[in-house]
Amino acid sequence: MEVVVRPCKPEASWLAARLIAAAIRAKPSLVLGLATGRTMERLYAKLVQMHREEGLDFSLVRTFNLDEYIGLPPEDPNAYRYYMNHHLFDHINIDKRNTHLPEGMTDDEAGEGARYEAEMREAGGIDLQLLGIGRAGHIGFNEPLSALQSRTRAKALTPMTIAENSGEFTDPARMPRRAITMGVGTILEAKRLLVLVTGESKAEILAKAVEGPITSMVSATAIQLHPNVQVICDNEAASNLSGREYYEWIFENEPEWQEYR
Ligand code: GLP
Repeated sequence: MEVVVRPCKPEASWLAARLIAAAIRAKPSLVLGLATGRTMERLYAKLVQMHREEGLDFSLVRTFNLDEYIGLPPEDPNAYRYYMNHHLFDHINIDKRNTHLPEGMTDDEAGEGARYEAEMREAGGIDLQLLGIGRAGHIGFNEPLSALQSRTRAKALTPMTIAENSGEFTDPARMPRRAITMGVGTILEAKRLLVLVTGESKAEILAKAVEGPITSMVSATAIQLHPNVQVICDNEAASNLSGREYYEWIFENEPEWQEYR
């Protein structure tokens, strides 16, 4: 795992966007795993900017989102399908038929998990999975006690997640109590993980995810099991990291980071 600390949110998002752009340029038909949440809005704005200003080409890119709320139709402004169209897909040259999210309106939840997994397999698996971390320590919607080998399935949300995300809803009571999410095991099968975490409110959970013991109580700790992970954070989110000086030394000295310094 590598941890890169940037001075502020815009710089952290910019670095994450440049890493994604480099992956797309290296493999134009990249299978890209996507995440939602406030943290990603800045990153998607940067990708849109790179598409407009540098011609970053999404025409062959295929995407799979981590999760979707159960019971919200795609056109609902709080559905993650709506979020993705609004923040990214409507502003780049991606073929929408190549963009995938779990079906939140399914009447066959178990079947939907298996169908989504099969779609990912048919695409050849995820090349690069983008991840945020929720304050409860989840990746996707893998709430505490999600098995480290779990697969795509329906999951009940914790009161903490409901409190954290319901502010995004016009009427907080409308927030679904359940979601369909890739499992921790599904996420760990991606060839590469790119984790973006910003803001003071994430400092405690980021330190646990990166430096704490691996536990299903904090599904984000599972990223320690993956052989190819880059965590990009800002100064505020990094404030509880005990190995920070070492991480900064690596960023300053390792040749792979030279063009990003
Ligand atoms: C939601 C998503 C996660 C995301 C998390 C953090 O719960 N399911 O994938 O990482 O929010 O969101 P934010 O960036 O708003 O803190």
